[in-house]
Amino acid sequence: MSILAELKDRFRRALVDLPDVDLAEDVEELLELIRRSTDPRFGDYQANFAMPLGKRLSRPPREVAAQIVEHLEVDDLCDPPEIAGPGFINLRIKNRCLAERLAAAVGDQRLGIPAAARPRTYVIDYSAPNVAKPMHVGHIRSTVIGDALYKILSFLGHQTISDNHLGDWGTQFGMIIYGFRHFLDEQAYQRDPVGELARLYQLVRQLMDYHAKDQPAAVHGDPTLSRLAAEHKDIGSAVLAETASLHEGDEQNVRLWREFMPACQQEIDRIYQRLGVRFDYTLGESFYNDRLQAIVDDLLARGIARESEGAVCVFLEGHEIPMLVRKQDGAFLYATSDLATVRYRMEHFNPDAILYVVDHRQALHFEHLFATARLMGYGDVELTHVSFGTVLGEDGRPFKTRSGETVGLEGLLDEAVHRAAQIVAAGDDAKPGGPELSADERKRIAEIVGIGALKYADLSQNRTSDYLFSYDKMLAMNGNTATYMQYAYARVRSIFAKGSADVEALRTSGTPILLDSPAERALGLQLLRMAEALDLAVLDYRPNQLTNYLFELADCYSTFYESCPVLKAETDAVRQSRLLLCDLTARTICKGLELLGIDVVERM
Ligand code: ARG
Repeated sequence: MSILAELKDRFRRALVDLPDVDLAEDVEELLELIRRSTDPRFGDYQANFAMPLGKRLSRPPREVAAQIVEHLEVDDLCDPPEIAGPGFINLRIKNRCLAERLAAAVGDQRLGIPAAARPRTYVIDYSAPNVAKPMHVGHIRSTVIGDALYKILSFLGHQTISDNHLGDWGTQFGMIIYGFRHFLDEQAYQRDPVGELARLYQLVRQLMDYHAKDQPAAVHGDPTLSRLAAEHKDIGSAVLAETASLHEGDEQNVRLWREFMPACQQEIDRIYQRLGVRFDYTLGESFYNDRLQAIVDDLLARGIARESEGAVCVFLEGHEIPMLVRKQDGAFLYATSDLATVRYRMEHFNPDAILYVVDHRQALHFEHLFATARLMGYGDVELTHVSFGTVLGEDGRPFKTRSGETVGLEGLLDEAVHRAAQIVAAGDDAKPGGPELSADERKRIAEIVGIGALKYADLSQNRTSDYLFSYDKMLAMNGNTATYMQYAYARVRSIFAKGSADVEALRTSGTPILLDSPAERALGLQLLRMAEALDLAVLDYRPNQLTNYLFELADCYSTFYESCPVLKAETDAVRQSRLLLCDLTARTICKGLELLGIDVVERM
């Protein structure tokens, strides 16, 4: 158990034992008020519930605090608790307890982090791009946040199933099929199928926009486009018809779809490979095509949905707009396949929770979906929309290229790696003894640093906020960035290279950990807090709890490194103990970054 969890446990017992007070359901809520102290003068942890409790019982909070402390058994963990101010209970963990836990972490692959007491089964739905159009900056968030949650939950011992719900069946295929029939450049298609499909998609998109009511004025300046637009006046309805006939199983359209899909899949796989992301399942929208009619029939039969002006809708209590599951023309919708997906997942994976890591703009869709799923009888499963904000450019507007197009994901990765390469080269050139890295090593490190920077920049944001995309900020050597963490890691590892210390031998040597100076103690305590950070990260599905933790860890390490000589420590015992603290720091950073899907390098 983490120290915090242990403290909560002890307080739970003390609170339940309080005479004349029945706290029943409130205990867990009160226990949430045990927090780490922000100022070490007030101990390591603080219990702040005597104030609300005193108010409830109409008694002075200090008196309530004293009564709780009387019932509290923490002698083995803490120095005697102190009551401060209006009734704060300050707790300072005994050095002996810290040293013991650190020693246990040293000898443990899991760094002493326990698995969840009650493992659950999670289906995590993330990435899910609409294929056949190039992946863009918006996809990075879902992919990276989902992957981090997947890794964290797995590490905590939960059963996790990742499912990439590809948009592989939508209107974009009607668009591409239309484009293929009318505008195909055969040679370009042979050379680069995905590139040509993307071009066709863009072109059809532009032509449809041209005819749309609120078309961007710019398109009218282009004579070729104007000419094509005049020749394809009904492109909007023609595209819908192509999509509909695909869905109905039209032989030619299905054949084209089958022809396009492998290339589209390859395209996104290349990006996943570069990002180091893989999925247990990729059951896209197309997978559910022949299950949609049954869903609608079932909803109708059970009175959950009803016909309205030829369409089929689910009217939901508290929602003004109904959820449409079949259009007047008989077409099924995104919502229909999502309902089929819920059913499939429940029947095949029987999860305790399904997490949807999707843009906040789909909030209403998920409210509808979850409410309908409840009506369908899926009452117990946790359904959560892990929503996230928009990626903004430095001008504070949604991130676009100069010409106003969305930024392709691949170009983004290339640029981050390109800039990382410059940073790595400059750092290496500036080394006192001259450069140490070969061209190949530099290249490998740049890829890791560049991709890591991009991921970390995203993960370190409060996911619900929009965030400002900036290469300079994400690659900064100082600050809450992957580069800083990777650099900290490499620095710690270099101590071992310099001191030619044998890490493996040290880990099994049983060397006691000494925490006599404040900086050693603070580092030791922070090392033991990883479990708390992970608990917080899954509580609300927020990977930034982990990045915050790592950043604080790096900070504690800096202070330690400045004030506590390691290789030149005053005695051998102190040197060994400090080396162990260094080793644990490196391992903790490495594990933390790994759970965020980020690699480290031994030298940079
Ligand atoms: N393909 C969708 C989009 O790009 C996201 C799908 C999210 N997952 C889901 N089960 N609805 O907007």
